[in-house]
Amino acid sequence: MKNFLSPSLQLLQLLLAVAKEGQFQIQMSKDEGMLPGQGQNERAFLELLGEGKTNSSEKRWGGMVVAGITGGAALALSVICLPFVSPALRRICLPYVPATTSQVDNVLKALGGRSGRIVDLGSGDGRIVLSAAQAGFSPAEGVELNPWLVLYSKIQAFKNGLTTQTAFHRKDLWKFSLKPYPNIVIFGVEEMMEELELKLKKEVEDGTHIVACRFPLPSLKPVATIGSGLDTVWLYKHKLN
Ligand SMILES: C[S@@+](CC[C@H](N)C(=O)[O-])C[C@H]1O[C@@H](n2cnc3c(N)ncnc32)[C@H](O)[C@@H]1O
Repeated sequence: MKNFLSPSLQLLQLLLAVAKEGQFQIQMSKDEGMLPGQGQNERAFLELLGEGKTNSSEKRWGGMVVAGITGGAALALSVICLPFVSPALRRICLPYVPATTSQVDNVLKALGGRSGRIVDLGSGDGRIVLSAAQAGFSPAEGVELNPWLVLYSKIQAFKNGLTTQTAFHRKDLWKFSLKPYPNIVIFGVEEMMEELELKLKKEVEDGTHIVACRFPLPSLKPVATIGSGLDTVWLYKHKLN
């Protein structure tokens, strides 16, 4: 009996041990939020899918998206701003400073009674060109290096129904021929006026009317001075003085 009971007891002991071990495993799986049997295989499978790394890789992607948007915005801003700051890097710095309303009025007064072709050298947002077109000059043209200002001028011309009477050239005024123009306007800076006077003398036809805003030409004698202070304009008639 003892011999019979002994293996049975041993078997019972073994079964109890197995059951205990199983209970322990179930407890561990519950602790990890998994079903029994989802142990290592489940973890390896999730890792294969990248689930185990979801948080860190999502953060990495988010960081890359933010960096991309920030970098793109900075690049776009630089592209827009560069044409406005680049005049400062040129030999003669001619920055964008728009003419005042009374300055524009003085230009038109100086050219009163004239018509035909006109050019504004460094035309900015096109306000002098558009006002000249409205006053009857045709074609009224602008030369401007800044592509955004050229685009803006063209949009303004379109909005005001002046597209056919106007033209805006994205060009360097120093390389632009002044010969075809009987009317020329310049709102420049003092440092450029001597060099501009030489260019005018070389290129323009007799009888050309030149209007200088804010800074006069250094040697030519004006036939009229209109306005005062910062809005003063000087009218010159080539070869008539
Ligand atoms: C003082 S603003 C005059 C703007 C416009 N004429 C007005 O009266 O409102 C001078 C303009 O010349 C442009 N400019 C500067 N250097 C230039 C160049 N080399 N050729 C053509 N335009 C230039 C600038 O971008 C600026 O818009």
